[in-house]
Amino acid sequence: MFLRPLLILLFAGASAFTVPSTSRFRLALKAGEGEGKTLVVAGASGYIGKSTVKEAVRQGYKTISLVRSKSSALSNPAVEPYLSGSEIIETDVTNLSSLKSTLSTLGPIDTAISCLASRSGVKKDAYLIDYQATSNFLKASTSAGARHFTLLSAFCCKNPWLQFQQAKLKFESELQDQDDLTYSIVRPTAFFKSVSGQLEVVQMGAPFVMFGDGEVTRCNPIAEKDLAQYLIDCGRDTKRQGKILNLGGPDEPLTMKKQGEMLYKAVGKDPNFFYAPLWLFDFIIDNIQKLADLTGLEALEDAAETGRIGKYYAVEDMLTTEPEEKFGSITLQQHYDKIAVDGQEYDPYTTMFAAPKKN
Ligand SMILES: *[C@@H]1O[C@H](CO)[C@@H](O)[C@H](O)[C@H]1NC(C)=O
Repeated sequence: MFLRPLLILLFAGASAFTVPSTSRFRLALKAGEGEGKTLVVAGASGYIGKSTVKEAVRQGYKTISLVRSKSSALSNPAVEPYLSGSEIIETDVTNLSSLKSTLSTLGPIDTAISCLASRSGVKKDAYLIDYQATSNFLKASTSAGARHFTLLSAFCCKNPWLQFQQAKLKFESELQDQDDLTYSIVRPTAFFKSVSGQLEVVQMGAPFVMFGDGEVTRCNPIAEKDLAQYLIDCGRDTKRQGKILNLGGPDEPLTMKKQGEMLYKAVGKDPNFFYAPLWLFDFIIDNIQKLADLTGLEALEDAAETGRIGKYYAVEDMLTTEPEEKFGSITLQQHYDKIAVDGQEYDPYTTMFAAPKKN
């Protein structure tokens, strides 16, 4: 009976590295900082990419949004409003020559920001997007004479045991080994979207699922708007350059149980928890992996990897505690309170286990 919420959670974990919102804070601050400068965002229709575009436009940058499909970005109500004021250019980031010719037409580029991330995190996608496409973007930015490159990476690369982490690390070292551009590598702990995947199931009356005693891991996720500001400011703040920067939000360390309590508070229901034992992950992963080894099927290999991604987030802290590694003003409770009323953006990876849409 609890398999469905469990699978949803497993996938919620898996989406932690891919990852919506509005607030009126700081509107007056930093407007005009980007005046006269061009900023290019790759992965501009993604969860962090679109917020980065919006913030860059607000700061006065001439902002270029690179998207895979202009028509789908413009027809998607969860994306289009964020990109307004930017120049939307359709390009294939997996094709170096086409990406190079796109960037060469833009004039001097001040800052390039990569918000590229594979959606699934399985091996093939990770090496294609987290490594190869991101590397293409660096090469194209370099030949276009860009000054600074900011990479959206992931906190979990600190302790890598997953394919997508290896792919991200491979690109991180490529970026660190070049000296054509200054760079910043930003590794956010977790996105709000990845810790609110259980909103709908909880609203429907199903229990909040957590692992072990619900106190196994702690995190301080960061709001997309806060993260967007941090990413952009890296281009101007030399103290953030030539470095790997771990970054979490303003919250104190939150256990899963605490997140569950906050979510119930937001929806106005009494807490109802289901404690799933951690061995369940191993049981599921081991069996899928055995089948994968037996059959050699890539789909099963990917399913096992997706299970490992889910397990990773069930057992590893995504937490920063140093003051310089905490940023922003939006708390998780504020986010939960907002989505409890407004609902959250449809996301096939966190809201529904079955049939993710191909894009
Ligand atoms: C890559 O882009 C170039 C130039 O736009 C195009 O001629 C070529 O067919 C593309 N290659 C692939 C594999 O799509």
